[in-house]
Formats: sequence, C-alpha cells, structure tokens
Amino acid sequence: MTSALFSPIRLADLELANRIVVSPMCQYSADDGVASEWHINHLGMLANSGAALVVAEATGIERRGRITHGCLGLYSDDCEAALARVVAHCRRYGTAKLGIQLAHAGRKASARRPWEGSQPLSPAEDPWQTIAPSAVPFGPEWPVPRAMTAADMERVRDAFVAAARRAVRAGIDATELHGAHGYLLHSFVSPISNKRDDEYGGTLAARMRYPLEIARAVRAAIPKGMPLGARITGSDWVEGGLTPDDAVAFAGALKAAGLDFVCISSGGISAASGPTLVAGTNVQFAEKVRREAGIATRTVGLIATPRQAEAIVAEGKADMVALARAMLDDPHWGWHAAQVLGAEVVRPPQYQRAAPKVWAGASYRD
Ligand SMILES: Cc1cc2nc3c(=O)[nH]c(=O)nc-3n(C[C@H](O)[C@H](O)[C@H](O)COP(=O)(O)O)c2cc1C
Repeated sequence: MTSALFSPIRLADLELANRIVVSPMCQYSADDGVASEWHINHLGMLANSGAALVVAEATGIERRGRITHGCLGLYSDDCEAALARVVAHCRRYGTAKLGIQLAHAGRKASARRPWEGSQPLSPAEDPWQTIAPSAVPFGPEWPVPRAMTAADMERVRDAFVAAARRAVRAGIDATELHGAHGYLLHSFVSPISNKRDDEYGGTLAARMRYPLEIARAVRAAIPKGMPLGARITGSDWVEGGLTPDDAVAFAGALKAAGLDFVCISSGGISAASGPTLVAGTNVQFAEKVRREAGIATRTVGLIATPRQAEAIVAEGKADMVALARAMLDDPHWGWHAAQVLGAEVVRPPQYQRAAPKVWAGASYRD
C-alpha cells in the first residue's frame, strides 16, 4: 500500500518527507516574547512526532502584537537568541523541519491566557492599547482598538519584515503569516472588522491590500528558496463576513505575491462569530481553494485519525494536513499513523528499537 499522507512534498526549496504538519499552538510560556525551557520541551517533543514540519506558535512581531503577556515574540535580540536555541535543539535531536507563524494579534491582543479566562486584561494586569484597521472592538466586553494610522501600518509592516529576518537568522526552515482567527491581518481582510474608508477598506481588493503589502515585503526579505505561506480563513461564519469565494481570491492574490502555500482555517473574527469546528468543514474550503486558486493547500481542524488524514490527501482535498490537539494528545502521532498506513517514518537512533516491530502487526489506532 502506498500512502499519500506519507508521500514527500516540496515547498519552494524545502523537501518535506510527508504531508503531516504540527499546527502552530500558542504556549503562553514566554517571558517578554523570549522562548523558555517549555519551548525546548514542547517543540523538541513534537520534532519527533513523525510530522515532516512543526510550526512554532503565533509569534508576535512586535510587543503589542502578542495575544497575552506569555506569548512568544520575535522583536528583540533576546527573542532571536532564545528562538535560535530552540531551533538548534530541535534540529539536533528531532527529525522534523521547523516553521514559524509570524503574527500580530491586533484587536484581540492584551488578553489573559486561556487558563486565566482569555478575557481582556484588566487595568491591574498591565494591559496595552490595541490596534486594528478600525476602532471596532472584538466583542462587547473588549476594549476599543485604535484605528491604525499610516505610520502604524508602516511600523507593523517593517516589524513583520524584521521578525522574518530574525527567523531566518535563527535557523527556521519555513515561515507563515497568521492571516486567520481574527488577528490583525485577517481583521483587515474581513468586512466585519475593517470599516476603513481609505484605500485599505471597502472592496475585497482594498481590504486585502495591507496584508498583501506585508506578504510581498516579507517575501522580498527572506531567501527565495525558503517557503512562505499564510494561514487564512475559509469562512467568517458571520452574516456579511468572508466566504469561501473570498478565500479563493485571497489565496490567489497571495500566490501572485510569491507565497508558496496557504493553510485553510476558519472562524474567530468576532465574539459573535458562529459555531463551528465540525470535522471536515475546513476541508471543503481547502478543496475549493486548492482547485480554484492553484496553490499548495494545507488544512486543519478536527483531523484526528490516520485514515481521515490519508483520505484528505489521497482524494486531493488538500496537499497537507495540520494537526493541533491530536498531536498534544499523542506526540508520536505520525509514528502511529505510519504504522496504520503501512508507511515508514524516521525515528531518532535512540528510539529505533520501538515500533513498528514491537506492535507485531497490531493496529495502534484506526
Ligand atoms: C493550545 C492551542 C494553541 C493554539 N495556538 C494557535 C496559534 O498559535 N496559531 C494558530 O493559527 N492556531 C492556533 N491554534 C489553533 C490550531 O492550530 C488549530 O487550528 C485548531 O486547534 C484546530 O485543529 P485541531 O482540531 O487539530 O486541534 C491553537 C490551538 C490549540 C489547541
């Protein structure tokens, strides 16, 4: 049996051994953006998950672009040095390539960690002024962000470029921009959060303008052969919000800007936005984007079993799958998927005496 999930894929000059990606996951465990021992532990563990690519969490390109006080950042020499240490550790002991998600939380910044409630920081918790395309809050309990001026936009664009350069210096293999989940770039594209009446608001083309400027600037700043992608939204799940057709248009424009892949997620644009993570929902959006925009496409969301992941890739619905919670639950998910699908996966020499032989043909998980 030949597995589609375990077939290689090339993104720009980067060869990935299979189609499995560890989705970016905030750890809220950094100190002023600086990675900690937790990141060594977390990313080091997932670098041996069997996934070809591990994408480090949403990483703030400026201090106020972090979601919480604990979010990872890439805006200082200390941030860069700590990230380089994590990358070196993962490369030395793990088998995966390493990506990073560059992000600005926009109007969803200045919040508590999830285990502290995810609500906006109170005055006693050292909150900060958030910025957004328009002075429209995320929800009724949320602070009103300041609408970005031309100077803000220039500064944030330059900060994306500077962070991307830092990521390259730190040894990262692939970079992606966070353009989903209601954070800054998504909030420019979505009509729910972008009410501007200048050249950055109004039509879809105008709303995409700023994220595309950032994409082009980052593309020009990193090596040509290094993959650059973006996570974008397949649907806002709100009346009047972004639709799958908009995702196709945005993905096509990102491709024209020189991006190598997109990851299709959805939701998060406002506190009122709908349901919505139902297994396979984002897969439909990804299939449409892949077919109509013609760009390498990843998808994410409630992908949990090897056969489910295999079917998504084998049926041409996406080129890659990203897994988040299933990887936390089973940090050797890729090893076990290889066993189920009759494929091979590279293990570090210290662990070579583990599966598949010890399982003697028994299926770990179906
Ligand atoms: C602990 C945790 C942290 C997350 N942090 C991020 C993040 O930094 N960037 C992002 O784009 N998505 C983030 N997500 C969303 C996941 O990447 C993924 O899209 C979502 O969990 C759905 O996939 P799953 O069903 O495989 O968990 C996070 C999810 C979890 C569980």
